[in-house]
Amino acid sequence: MYVCICRAVSEKAVKREISAGACSVRALKDRLGLGSVCGRCVPDARSMIQQASAQQPIPLAALSQSMANAA
Ligand code: FES
Repeated sequence: MYVCICRAVSEKAVKREISAGACSVRALKDRLGLGSVCGRCVPDARSMIQQASAQQPIPLAALSQSMANAA
């Protein structure tokens, strides 16, 4: 199933990147291009990140990098 139809990004690809440390929509956009066209996939991607972070702690290095990128 696709999360981002515009960029053909699958749910599997999003989960893989989240497991690899992507802890923000921006990180997913940088890695996969998700959310870079119409943006309709952003709420679903955000929800997937929140679900993953609730299930397992986000690696501190990934969190620090995400916060640095947001600044
Ligand atoms: S569905 Fe992801 S940018 Fe359009």
